[in-house]
This record gives sequence, structure tokens and C-alpha cells, in this order.
Amino acid sequence: MIPAKRRTAVLISGRGSNLRALIEAAQAGDYPARIALVLSNKPDAEGLRIARQHGIETAVIESKGKERAAFDAEMHALLQSKGIELVCLAGFMRLLTTEFVQAWYGRMINIHPSLLPAFKGTQVHERVVASGVRVTGCSVHFVSPEMDEGPIILQATVPVPPDATPQSVAAAVLEQEHALYPQALKLLAEGKLVIEGQRVSVK
Ligand code: GRF
Repeated sequence: MIPAKRRTAVLISGRGSNLRALIEAAQAGDYPARIALVLSNKPDAEGLRIARQHGIETAVIESKGKERAAFDAEMHALLQSKGIELVCLAGFMRLLTTEFVQAWYGRMINIHPSLLPAFKGTQVHERVVASGVRVTGCSVHFVSPEMDEGPIILQATVPVPPDATPQSVAAAVLEQEHALYPQALKLLAEGKLVIEGQRVSVK
């Protein structure tokens, strides 16, 4: 019997190129997750258009001017009501409450454009270039209450050549992100990831 595809929500705030990569990967018949909902905290997020083009249900919950706890409670209620099992953060520019993170712990993942635990936070590629590191990359990790600190699932590396600019590094890393995120969601949806403290093993 073919197992049911896991109902997955992608949370976005902007461009949505990782969302597109996830949608395209999930179109394969044997992919174990279905992108069932795209939720944005910004009504003008470009990623909403990508979702609609693919016939995927979208929702907007504006975060502006809203208390964090109220916003997260609204999101949680929506995700529950849509039968969402897994959550992917893909350029979702909003800090989440500990309550929300705990409710989804082990079922919510994020992609970050550096080799964590290096270069957490924002303005990553500027800091990468300024730091002189020779290698950077991207990481998919479980979301934990501390930003960019959850257990790491997969990473991919990208060289930083001497003439690198933040823009060139961003483009090279983004290409890797688009390959890495669907692989990580696949492992999660197949139930192959086991969290042991800060470490993740693949069954
Ligand atoms: C990506 O670089 C991702 O790693 C970071 O935010 C960016 C989102 O880009 N968390 P996009 O919206 O998926 O194009």
C-alpha cells in the first residue's frame, strides 16, 4: 500500500524560491509530502503568487501590529484546522513563540543560508564575505525556541572564492538550498529522522 502523503504547510514572508523548489519536488508521485497550504504573514509576498499558480491553497495572517502570542495562536489554529502535519519555514521572517515552537517540535523545519552554527541571524552573506571564510553553505534544521539553533538535519557546502561578493555567494547558496530543502522534507515525511538531543540521525 502506498502511504498517504504528509500534509505540509510552507510558511513564507517573501520571494518564495524555496517554496517553489518544495512544490516542484512534491509533484513527483512518490514524494512523501504534499504542499497543502502556503501561509504568509505578508499579503504581498511573491511566494503567494507561486502557490496560486500551482493551485495550492493560500492564507495570509498579517503579523504587523499584532502581539506575537496572538499571531502564533491564530497560525496554530489555522494549521490544525487544515489538518497540517508538517511545517516548513521558507524565508519566514518572524520570530516564533516558545509555545508555538514546542507545539510543532519535531514536525517543523527551517532552511538557513549558512553552515550552522556559524552565521546565525540575518545579513548572512555580507558577514560570510567579510569574515574571510573559504567555505559556506546552507543548513536545514528542526526549529527550536532559540533562533537558528535547532538540531541540524542536512547541510550543503559552497566555496567562497577570493573575488566573492555577498550577491555571488547568495546565488550559489540559494542553488544548493533548492536541492537541499526537498531532500530534508522527504526524510522528515518518511519518518526517517530521529532527534537525539542536538543530533539528528537518519534511520
Ligand atoms: C533563503 O535564503 C533562506 O535560506 C532564508 O530566507 C531565504 C528565503 O528565500 N531563510 P526564498 O523566499 O525561499 O526565495
